[in-house]
Amino acid sequence: MKAVRIHEFGGPERVQVEDIPTPRLTAGKALVRVHAAAVNPVDWMVRERIYNPEGADRVPLTLGQDFAGVIEQIGPHSETSLRERDEVFGEVWGSFAQYALVPVEDLVLKPRSVDFVTAASIPMPAITAWQAIIDTAEAKPGMRFLIHGASGGVGSFAAQFAHWKGAQVLATASQPSFDYLRSIGVTTIIDYEHERFEDKVRDVDVVLDPIGGDVQARSWGVLKQGGMLINLIGELHEAAARKAGVVGVEFGMEYDTEDLDFIAKLVDRGIVKPHVTQVLPLEQAREALDLNQQNKSHGKIVLEVH
Ligand SMILES: NC(=O)c1ccc[n+]([C@@H]2O[C@H](COP(=O)([O-])OP(=O)(O)OC[C@H]3O[C@@H](n4cnc5c(N)ncnc54)[C@H](OP(=O)(O)O)[C@@H]3O)[C@@H](O)[C@H]2O)c1
Repeated sequence: MKAVRIHEFGGPERVQVEDIPTPRLTAGKALVRVHAAAVNPVDWMVRERIYNPEGADRVPLTLGQDFAGVIEQIGPHSETSLRERDEVFGEVWGSFAQYALVPVEDLVLKPRSVDFVTAASIPMPAITAWQAIIDTAEAKPGMRFLIHGASGGVGSFAAQFAHWKGAQVLATASQPSFDYLRSIGVTTIIDYEHERFEDKVRDVDVVLDPIGGDVQARSWGVLKQGGMLINLIGELHEAAARKAGVVGVEFGMEYDTEDLDFIAKLVDRGIVKPHVTQVLPLEQAREALDLNQQNKSHGKIVLEVH
């Protein structure tokens, strides 16, 4: 099968498309024919050896995590109601390939109303946004959210979940994303390339920060007393949170199939619309990773796998 691999951690030049044996089916796992796999920042962070949890810490390594596809075979001793030929999606290390071996308990039925490309764009960013906006911030009517990077993978789901719960959504983004953000109910958009959000926004209940650094430092002042900043990347400045009289949350998403199943239902009901902006063939995985790393996605990039 074709797979996007690295034999050494490092830059884009390490990424190769190779022919390797199809994984052998084992107990408790399903062999999934991958039809689409989405690019997340974690994929180039793994390649660069910035972030390498178990499963992504050794070479040779097949890159990729989010996928959508069809179950081809289910291994022995698998406790699941899923069947062969079911259309599924989820996360597994090594999704940039024609086949992936996935623990059956990590698979979720794909939303019926969308194609494989759209489904593949959902798992990591949508579960992250769900756990941040619904579980951590407890979005509800009357609340005001500032979502940084609202056109990106996490931000676009976060903005939609907060809006769905009746909260007001303010967002930072760059020009190419403005029409999209208006279409999902964002009331105030700040162009981070030309404006300073702290000059235009104040008294928000929650800041979602997938950018960090200077953006985090400038965000404390736009929160109400008792508000919350949810930090997705880099270090949280606890002392700054205390000084501002707000709660700083060091957030880590945990893969959860119940959350993903619920999100799939929201997608099927038309309440949440994934934001896919570019589709490339698997063979262009290196370019796709570069586009994301260079901040040129303006939404999700998905690899189509034939
Ligand atoms: N802690 C966790 O559990 C967790 C989970 C998932 C992701 N993350 C992290 O969260 C971050 C975002 O992930 P993602 O999947 O949403 O990435 P993404 O799809 O690449 O989106 C990033 C977005 O950030 C925007 N952006 C860039 N610079 C900005 C700035 N100075 N101010 C405001 N917005 C800016 C861009 O918006 P425009 O397109 O409008 O220019 C881009 O769409 C990554 O660092 C990822 O590793 C953490």
